[in-house]
Amino acid sequence: MRRAIFPGSFDPLTNGHLDIVKRSSPLFDEMIIAVLNNADKDPLFSVEERCSMIRQVLPAVNTSGCDIIIDSFSGLTVDFARSRFASAIVRGIRAVSDYEYELRMALMNRRLEPSIETVFLMAGEEFSYVSSTLMKQVFKLGGRVEGLIPELVEAQMRRKMT
Ligand code: PNS
Repeated sequence: MRRAIFPGSFDPLTNGHLDIVKRSSPLFDEMIIAVLNNADKDPLFSVEERCSMIRQVLPAVNTSGCDIIIDSFSGLTVDFARSRFASAIVRGIRAVSDYEYELRMALMNRRLEPSIETVFLMAGEEFSYVSSTLMKQVFKLGGRVEGLIPELVEAQMRRKMT
C-alpha cells in the first residue's frame, strides 16, 4: 500500500492544490489531504470549514482510483505522516521561488524522519502564480478570481469577506 500525505494550510483550497491532487494521485493507493490546524496564524477559514470545502469539491476531481482522505493535524508534519504510516509527503512546486523554502522543509523533514520521502510535483503553468494568500488579497480588493479557485470556495469567500 503506497500511502502519502499532502499537507498544507489550504486557507482556502485553490485550483492549484486540486491540480497537485490530480497529478499525484496516480502515484499512490491512498492520499491524506492533511489540513494544518495553524493556531499561531489567523486563518480566514476554520479547519472544519477548510476540510468541509475540500470534501465538497473533491468528487469533481479525477483521482485515478487513489483513495483520498481529508483530515486535519497539529504539530509536526512528519509526526502526522508517521502516525498514519505514510511513506511520502507530497508538495507542489509552482516556480523556482518555491524551491528554496520547499527544499529546506524537505531536508528538515528528512532529518526528523529519514524513512519518509518528500515528493515534489510541478504544478500546471496556469497555476504558477496562484496562492491562497494572493487569492484572498485579490478577492478582498474586488479582483476576479474565477478559474483559479473552485466556485464553492469563491462563494464561501464572498460570505466571509463581504
Ligand atoms: O500550504 P502551506 O502553508 O505552504 O503548508 C506549509 C506546511 C503545513 C506544509 C508546513 O508549514 C508544515 O509542515 N507545518 C507543520 C509544522 C512542521 O512540521 N514544521 C516543520 C517543517 S520543516
